[in-house]
Amino acid sequence: MSSENNTPAPDKQPQDQLLAHEYDGIQEYDNPTPSWWSWLFALSIVFSVCYLVYYHVGDVGATIYENLDAAKKANADRKFAGIGNLQPDAPSLLKVMNDPDLLAMGKDVFDAALCASCHGPNAAGLVGPNLTDDYYKNVKTLPDIVHVIEEGAGNGIMPAWKTRLDPKEIILVAGYVASLRGQNLKGVYPNDPYGQKIAPWPDQAP
Ligand code: HEC
Repeated sequence: MSSENNTPAPDKQPQDQLLAHEYDGIQEYDNPTPSWWSWLFALSIVFSVCYLVYYHVGDVGATIYENLDAAKKANADRKFAGIGNLQPDAPSLLKVMNDPDLLAMGKDVFDAALCASCHGPNAAGLVGPNLTDDYYKNVKTLPDIVHVIEEGAGNGIMPAWKTRLDPKEIILVAGYVASLRGQNLKGVYPNDPYGQKIAPWPDQAP
């Protein structure tokens, strides 16, 4: 090591000390990070452990996703507070079919959930089959409509909605779709009529 190497560079402060070691001719000054930086570093590690435990271990803190789910559920509960107990069964679907307010809510779902984009605005058939006639492929009874909407059909060409719609929304839109039967509108679905002619819905009297 020449004496030149020990001379601090002109822009260095006098307190800069060369450390004793040298690797491949590279030496370094003993310049520790400022204490505020070291503290910040240590605190960020402590913080990350607290964060991990708070949000991801047990049920202590809710993540933004959990908050979103809770808010969605609260919103659905508030929205559907007045509609009573609807189940995915024929009596509930008949109830929807005979209640103009519930039918209007079902139509809102049909329009908002993009059903109309495939089945046509009046459900007469577009790239999805006509829902206003007596012919169905995946449906024989009223609850089958709920099932098709929940699970999808045709290997996913008809999407599954159970993760995207509230269970009550599915029953409302199923009742709305069932109520369209018998209008026999003319659509443009290429395979019309699609499926088999099925037995009429049970007595529609409330
Ligand atoms: C991406 C296009 C698409 C969207 C969006 C869509 N569907 Fe479908 N739907 C289809 C297709 C295609 C079929 C036929 C599936 C098959 O061949 O089995 C179908 C089938 C159905 C059936 C059964 C018809 C039968 O003959 O068995 C019902 C009921 C239905 N859809 C209701 C809905 C409702 C309600 C929505 C909205 C929540 C919806 N669909 C959204 C394309 C769509």
